[in-house]
Amino acid sequence: MSAPASDLLGRPLRDLRISVTDRCNFRCTYCMPKEVYGSTHPFLPRTEILSFEEITRLAALFLPLGVGKLRLTGGEPLLRRDLAHLVRMLRPLPGLQEIALTTNGALLKEHAAPLHQAGVDRITVSLDSLDPATFAAMADVQTPLDHVLAGIEAARTAGFSPIKINAVIRRGVNEHAILALADHFKDRAYIVRFIEYMDVGETNAWRMEDVVPAAEILATLRSRFALEPLPALYTGEVARRFRHTAPGSGGEVGLITSVTQPFCGDCTRARLSADGQLHTCLFSGAGISLRDPLRAGASDDQLRALIHAAWSARTDRYSEIRFSKTPGPASAPKPEMSRLGG
Ligand code: GTP
Ligand code: 5AD
Ligand code: SF4
Ligand code: SF4
Repeated sequence: MSAPASDLLGRPLRDLRISVTDRCNFRCTYCMPKEVYGSTHPFLPRTEILSFEEITRLAALFLPLGVGKLRLTGGEPLLRRDLAHLVRMLRPLPGLQEIALTTNGALLKEHAAPLHQAGVDRITVSLDSLDPATFAAMADVQTPLDHVLAGIEAARTAGFSPIKINAVIRRGVNEHAILALADHFKDRAYIVRFIEYMDVGETNAWRMEDVVPAAEILATLRSRFALEPLPALYTGEVARRFRHTAPGSGGEVGLITSVTQPFCGDCTRARLSADGQLHTCLFSGAGISLRDPLRAGASDDQLRALIHAAWSARTDRYSEIRFSKTPGPASAPKPEMSRLGG
């Protein structure tokens, strides 16, 4: 049962995204709108959240099934106390190739160096605009933009390179941020990726009219920058890559086209929520609890068999079929991005 797992569409299991908390210090309007995630919102109590020991034990079971990359996410993963300690626990696991982290950057200034020392290989910072007013409107927080920029700078000083910057683009909200972001981060120390706004979860009132198609983002970029396409670095890479060709720039931009050009055919990602539910798709309503059997005393073999069975039965390709699917009364609500960490 520890042979590499492959799903019913022939897709191997390669990446595990681990959400370490469902809390966040931002209230991005497209992810955790304040009206839903207010002061009385029932976040997970501590007892329901996987401990570092539980996360490490589960991660170790995923590795022999084909996983090489772990990505720590949230909510905001830096809100989890002593995250560097978790990294130190995960680092020696046999078969582990890399540990990546996705953060909003607000707390990165103090955490970048300890996380690098602990063994995080790569950092991705979510940043939707360099204009303080647009940033504040989208993140819906008092945290100044400068804190995020200082966090990115600290990550660079700590030795992370390249640093990925993720920007979700919404029609009428931050289209004007595209060129400024691409310009600011055109150095080879960064890779900016523009993400099509997706219909994740049930709370952000997503509408197709709010999506800026990647083709349009690319046209905007090409109105200012000379870009040449780059081949994917590995099968299943989420972003389409382009390189700045102007002398002296050398950096890279990416487009994440999950609405207009879905990439389910190569999707090798599993997701573990903070309360230990395994999701085989960002959009799969029902997760499978690994925490409950783990806490009930299941052996490693039993847990590995559960993971293997879930992946072997997988047929998910939500983004490819989203427009042909009529959600019936029986379909489970889609999980929120803040639970699955993107
Ligand atoms: P690397 O290639 O290792 O840098 O990571 P990544 O691009 O897989 O990770 P990242 O978290 O930076 O992904 C960027 C964004 O792409 C996510 O936040 C999501 O918005 C989107 N995304 C990533 N994986 C998927 C996926 O499996 N399905 C869909 N629909 N969107 C995804
Ligand atoms: N569509 C696209 N990307 C999203 N993210 C959060 N919500 C959405 C959405 N509805 C992105 C964040 C972050 C990553 C974890 O997911 O900006 O970069
Ligand atoms: Fe927090 Fe990231 Fe969601 Fe924004 S997108 S509310 S930073 S989890
Ligand atoms: Fe993978 Fe589901 Fe995203 Fe398709 S919609 S790429 S199957 S996570």
